[in-house]
Amino acid sequence: MKRGLTLERIPDPFASLYEKATRLVIESYYRGLAQEVVGFLQTGRILDLGTGPGYLPVEIVKRSPALTVVGIDLSRSLIKMARRNAMNAGVPGQLHFEVGNANRLRFSDESFDMVLSTGMLHMLRDPVAVLRECYRVLRCGREAWFFDPARVSSQIDKKKWRASLSLLERFMYLVFSFYLRLDPPKRYHESRVTDMIRATPFKDFRVVEKHGELELRLKKDRAI
Ligand SMILES: C[S@@+](CC[C@H](N)C(=O)[O-])C[C@H]1O[C@@H](n2cnc3c(N)ncnc32)[C@H](O)[C@@H]1O
Repeated sequence: MKRGLTLERIPDPFASLYEKATRLVIESYYRGLAQEVVGFLQTGRILDLGTGPGYLPVEIVKRSPALTVVGIDLSRSLIKMARRNAMNAGVPGQLHFEVGNANRLRFSDESFDMVLSTGMLHMLRDPVAVLRECYRVLRCGREAWFFDPARVSSQIDKKKWRASLSLLERFMYLVFSFYLRLDPPKRYHESRVTDMIRATPFKDFRVVEKHGELELRLKKDRAI
């Protein structure tokens, strides 16, 4: 697996750039996905892995008072932003954000009704370990959904986004673009991801590649 320069989390200096970009796709991306989630699960506890600024959890709980979402991320800066976004949306009681590593979840076995993740899979050093952790924390009969790369960047209005950046942020963006040229993000395809899932206890799963985005729907069909 690729190593070298690859960073697993979004580095702190780029966190606010990332938040600004994702804020522009709340309407076009997170709302639709949140709607699908609440259509699928009406009550219970959801875990969002690599939650970033927390826009997906916010949109989910705004649509269902019977759902709670725990969001974790390796980035302390993004977790602070997620907490602030929950406060601003007026739904902090249904949300909990904390710094955490998806490779080693601190949660008990079978403690969640759903696991979600948008845009994290390609950043992981050990995706199989993360999928195994998902299996462990899911209740029997429940599902984990992964989307990767999330259709976030393709939905951003680049003009609008650049116009929203300060001079310093434009400079940071140039640095980040340079870094991405040196170390372009991994891109998984269906067969590679299917092999990863086969190395976990998930037996009931679907992997679909749609509009450049991979969708993984994994169901836990047996208790541990
Ligand atoms: C591309 S961002 C996606 C963020 C958010 N889900 C979204 O849709 O905007 C991927 C996130 O995963 C986080 N991440 C990467 N590896 C992680 C790990 N092992 N555990 C927890 N978070 C991780 C990164 O810090 C980053 O915030």
